[in-house]
Amino acid sequence: MEKRKKVTILTLQAMKERGEKISWLTSYDYPTAQFAEAARVDMLLVGDSLGMCVYGYESTVPVTMDQCIVHSEAVRRAAPTAFVMGDMPFMSYQKSDENAVANAGRFLKEAGVDAVKLEGGVRVISRIKAILDAGIVVCGHIGLTPQSSGQLGGHKAQGRTVESAKLLIEDALAIEQAGAQLLLLEAVPPEVAGFITDKLSIPVFGIGAGADCDGQLLIVSDLIGQFQAFTPKFVKQYANIAEVITGAMSEYIRDIKAGTFPASEHCYHMLKGEEEKFKQLVKKYE
Ligand code: KIV
Repeated sequence: MEKRKKVTILTLQAMKERGEKISWLTSYDYPTAQFAEAARVDMLLVGDSLGMCVYGYESTVPVTMDQCIVHSEAVRRAAPTAFVMGDMPFMSYQKSDENAVANAGRFLKEAGVDAVKLEGGVRVISRIKAILDAGIVVCGHIGLTPQSSGQLGGHKAQGRTVESAKLLIEDALAIEQAGAQLLLLEAVPPEVAGFITDKLSIPVFGIGAGADCDGQLLIVSDLIGQFQAFTPKFVKQYANIAEVITGAMSEYIRDIKAGTFPASEHCYHMLKGEEEKFKQLVKKYE
């Protein structure tokens, strides 16, 4: 297959302008990111969802910058041509503009990502501007924002009333005006997402936001059937890797118990002519 050119922010903007849909997946580790690169996904997000999908936490809140950097660096190495984005974890940008710039900068310096994402609309505009002033590409994230799900009363869809839809539109406009080059809408009605996508000139992505966005994001652990705790309504599961892995492990255990593994072909046999000498050696110990 022909080698792909690196996907950049200009590639994504051009895709929006010609109406070509953009594919986006989360990824947290080297092997999965290699598969995604081979499948030619346009973008990868090293989401703070890694807290739930990889570390088994109950929410994304405990995730640290150091964890995000380690996973982003592995994904970057595995996917050299995809557009890789680091996700700013809880309390990596909430304290101050300076704190936000320092942590966004770590993503670029230590992990080599192409952009960073942070949750929030109007209330994080000064953070977005500060990160942009440091020369870093920023993606906004509004709608269901898991880091502040306590304030939202849980993991609830947003924009389902006109009043709430208006707030989302105001957030989206403010994010674009601040200079962010990308926007993600999570768990938002398709008519609201479609309106925002048309209204904004930057690429707008949806996860649980209908088909009218410029691109779609899914959590890879949901797509491949690896995340077991729950399945959000917006997920389409394309494979059941949990079944495949558990099946393989059960078979391995059965083989051990039955003595059928390892078989002769899995053994390092003695070199030619050494077996006879070995038999003599064994006799000496009898
Ligand atoms: O961390 C993540 O994967 C995300 C998506 C749920 C949007 O932020």
